[in-house]
Amino acid sequence: MQTIALSDYTIYVGPIETGWQEFLTRKKYTQILVIADENTQTHCLPLLIRALNGQAFDLIHIPAGEQHKHIGTCQHIWQQMLNVGLDRQALVINLGGGVIGDMGGFCASTYKRGVDFVQVPTTLLSQVDASIGGKLGIDFGMVKNSIGVFCNPKAVFIDPAFLTTLSTRELRSGFAEIIKHGLIQDAAQWATIKGISQLDTVDWPKLIVPSLLIKKHVVEVDPFERGLRKALNFGHTIGHAVESFALETSEPLLHGEAIAIGMVCEAWLSQQQGFLSTADLEEISAFFIQIYGHEVLDEANFAAYLHLMGNDKKNEGKKINFSLIGAPGQVHINCSADADTIFASLRYYQQLAG
Ligand code: GLY
Repeated sequence: MQTIALSDYTIYVGPIETGWQEFLTRKKYTQILVIADENTQTHCLPLLIRALNGQAFDLIHIPAGEQHKHIGTCQHIWQQMLNVGLDRQALVINLGGGVIGDMGGFCASTYKRGVDFVQVPTTLLSQVDASIGGKLGIDFGMVKNSIGVFCNPKAVFIDPAFLTTLSTRELRSGFAEIIKHGLIQDAAQWATIKGISQLDTVDWPKLIVPSLLIKKHVVEVDPFERGLRKALNFGHTIGHAVESFALETSEPLLHGEAIAIGMVCEAWLSQQQGFLSTADLEEISAFFIQIYGHEVLDEANFAAYLHLMGNDKKNEGKKINFSLIGAPGQVHINCSADADTIFASLRYYQQLAG
């Protein structure tokens, strides 16, 4: 078991039963409530029940998927919390990926002005990103995460055993955030990552811990995203737009797949703005194409992507905000680009096909 201490909570990396026993020595709770979806109820709850070791709990079950991350599902959760008589000395356990962590944490932190909650992220993506840093929320008015709060969990339990329940596609999606962490903050981690060609032989805990240390550093320096935390948005301005657009089609992309496209486009912007060398751009682009393949983006949709970027909550005023990279490990926040340059970055990605 490895522990990573943040200022007000601990991340436990290893078997959840070990972390859970340690956590319970710190505080006693009157009641436990688990929030799960149909996937985590089937595949992950049995492991959590073993860790709880006979402790009673109530279960709230919600449908799986980003399309349910809205106020209607929150109302269902809050109603169930009232129905089971949840009091303010209770603990909520969010068992799932980013949607459960963001929405369950949001419901817990607002119910009766806040009950304690812990994150048990079950996807690689949520293990290395969403469960750390206290961002909670839901989608509203077609804008991802537009309603929410910052509120830290009481602990995060990262058990690599959950990763065995994931498809290669889901692992690859989470890998995108690990790559991002290396590119923006840690050249040595990027050097390790770029040697990877097969995802089925990766020793995930070896990559997860350095990635968590990078995220810990960033969110501790800047918890409310006024400066350095914006670095985590590398790839996300274009990536979120591509993801939101694809979500409305018959072929949605996973978050990391869209962010991988965004990182290639934004690496190109980084090179255009003189931050990144052409050699680094070519190496980064080739790596993403090797791992993620190439997605055809229709030029007819570029204007719609731009419109979605215009709605992004990262923008200030009318400018579209980007976090770009310098030499691996270095980041440049508060950059912007005009529409023609953004379109050119999408065309750069396009021409990487075969
Ligand atoms: N996922 C980006 C952040 O936590 O700030």
